Amino acid sequence: MYPLNRNRRLRSSSAIRDLVRENHLSNNDFIVPLFVVEGKNIKEEISSMPDYYRLSLDLLKKEVKELWEIGLKAVLIFVKVEDKLKDNSGKEALNNNGLMQRAIKIIKNTVPEMAVITDVALDPYSSYGHDGIVEKSKVLNDPTLEILSEMALSHAKAGADFVAPSDMMDGRVLKIRETLENNSFIDTGIISYSVKYASSLYGPFRKALDSNPNFGDKKTYQMDYGNKKEAINEALNDIEEGADIIMIKPGITCLDIISLLSQKITIPIACYQVSGEYSMLKIAAKKGFLDFNLVMIEQLSAFKRAGASMIASYHAKTAVKLLS
Ligand code: PBG
Repeated sequence: MYPLNRNRRLRSSSAIRDLVRENHLSNNDFIVPLFVVEGKNIKEEISSMPDYYRLSLDLLKKEVKELWEIGLKAVLIFVKVEDKLKDNSGKEALNNNGLMQRAIKIIKNTVPEMAVITDVALDPYSSYGHDGIVEKSKVLNDPTLEILSEMALSHAKAGADFVAPSDMMDGRVLKIRETLENNSFIDTGIISYSVKYASSLYGPFRKALDSNPNFGDKKTYQMDYGNKKEAINEALNDIEEGADIIMIKPGITCLDIISLLSQKITIPIACYQVSGEYSMLKIAAKKGFLDFNLVMIEQLSAFKRAGASMIASYHAKTAVKLLS
């Protein structure tokens, strides 16, 4: 009670503030999303994500070396698939010599200790831009599980440490876990996007991969952002099915969910600060409306405070350089 308690005492100098700080950001917190394209010597800026690039495999190699040198130890790989390789069942996803599979091998050959996490979902491979197989304008659940689990297996074979199903089909974690076990990939981890809201903040990402759905939206599989209890169900189901880490996304609009789940579940939580969040800050900063570095660190710190053990963020590299 005032005046016995004066809370400002603990804020009186930067030395004192550092002593009492509850959460710290470091290089150990980050997963770096990377976009990969076919070709040589390609570094093309993504029009919807200023200062973020799609890289060809040779430059990917260079990039992961650089990331490792500054202390970033985990990457999350997405590939831009050529139109001619897209179809309804996304069968290019199973090509053991596909772009994703080659990317995994190159990273593992270049920096063997780098944790390689791969996106598992059909949308970049789908001629409809949906995360599953489409029939009569519906995204089918169970037939999609077959291909997703084979896709995860092919990533594991190429050397992925973790697979990250981002599709939101029911039962995919179980199917992937069984497939990995049956093929002796007992150490391949699963980061499940358990709580993935149908968010308009993914817009810039879909431009990056040219993966916009060409009919309808993703609301029959991604979650309604009005819901909170459903997030608990999704997470508990996935833990039962064999997930090692639970992913929540988007980031800033889900701080309540991160906080809630960090009290309800005991496995690590990852959050994903998505493309729309990245681009909003970039543009506001470029216009001079916000201080980029300060807002970036503030937002990333909020994820830690909410209870995330790790953060997938397009800011990772800039943040880590700034922190050191
Ligand atoms: C693919 C996938 C998406 C994102 C991650 N994996 C897009 C989507 O579901 O439409 C979004 C990431 C971002 O916006 O940064 N299933």
